[in-house]
Amino acid sequence: MEEIKKAAEIIAKSKHVVVFTGAGISAESGIPTFRGEDGLWRRYDPEEVASIQGFKRNPKAFWEFSMEMKDKLFADPNPAHYAIAELERMGIVKAVITQNIDMLHQKSGSRRVLELHGSMEKLDCLDCHETYDWDDFAEDFNRGEIPRCRKCGSWYIKPRVVLFGEPLPQRVLFEAMEESKKCDAFIVVGSSLVVYPAAELPYMAKSSGAKMIIINAEPTVADSIFDVRIIGKAGEILPRIVDEVKKMR
Ligand code: APR
Ligand code: ZN
Repeated sequence: MEEIKKAAEIIAKSKHVVVFTGAGISAESGIPTFRGEDGLWRRYDPEEVASIQGFKRNPKAFWEFSMEMKDKLFADPNPAHYAIAELERMGIVKAVITQNIDMLHQKSGSRRVLELHGSMEKLDCLDCHETYDWDDFAEDFNRGEIPRCRKCGSWYIKPRVVLFGEPLPQRVLFEAMEESKKCDAFIVVGSSLVVYPAAELPYMAKSSGAKMIIINAEPTVADSIFDVRIIGKAGEILPRIVDEVKKMR
C-alpha cells in the first residue's frame, strides 16, 4: 500500500520518533476500546464508572466495570506493540506516550513508556495512602467482594489510573509535552483523539514541525493535521511499516 511506504520513508529518515497510542492498539489483544460501535462507553456511563466523583459515590459500580477490564488487562501484547518496541530497539522510536493503562507496551519490550493515564499496576487507599498489589485482594474478588483497606477500613481502594475529574501525573505530562515538541515524527496509533489534555499532544508535535502519521481503524477529528493517514488494524499495519523501514535502513 502506498501510504505504508510513505510512512516508512518518514520514519526511516527521522532521528526522534515519538509514538502516541490509545485503546485501539490493544483491541487486537482483546481489550475493549471506549468509543466506536462496541466501545465500553456504549454500555457503561463513564461518569458513573470512570470518574473520581462516581468512584467516591459508589465504589461498587466502579469495581463491576473494572472487573470486566481487569480480566482483560492481563492480556498479551499484539504485533502492533512488538513493532513499536522493535523501532525503539532500532534506535528510531525514542518514547511511547500512551493513554492506555494495560502496560502492554512494557510487556512487549518498550522501555521509555509515558503513561498519561496511569496504569493498573498498583492500588492505593485514598484515605490512608496504603499501597496494594492486585494479589492482596484476590480472595475478596473471588468472593465477589470489593476491596477494603486492611489498614484503615476505607472502601476507597483505587487502582493507580487517572479517572475523569482527576489531574494527569504532572511529571509524565510534562515529559510527554517535551517529547511532542522535540520529535521530528509523531505516530498516532489507535486513538479517537477526543480526550484532553492527551489529545493536545499531536497538535503540539504538528506545530513543532514534526511529520505526522496516524494509523487508526476509522477517521478521527484530527485527521487534517496528518501527513499520512492509514485506516486499518494496527496489528496488521505496523509490522508492515517496520518491514519497509528495515529495507530502507
Ligand atoms: N487498530 C487501530 N485502531 C483501532 C483498532 C485497531 N485494531 N480498533 C479500534 N481502533 C480505533 C477506533 O477506531 C478508535 O478510533 O481506536 C480508537 C480508540 O478510541 P477510544 O476508544 O476513544 O480510545 P482512546 O482514544 O484511547 O480514549 C482516550 O478516553 O475513556 C478515556 O481514559 C480513557 O484513555 C482513554 C481515553
Ligand atoms: Zn486505608
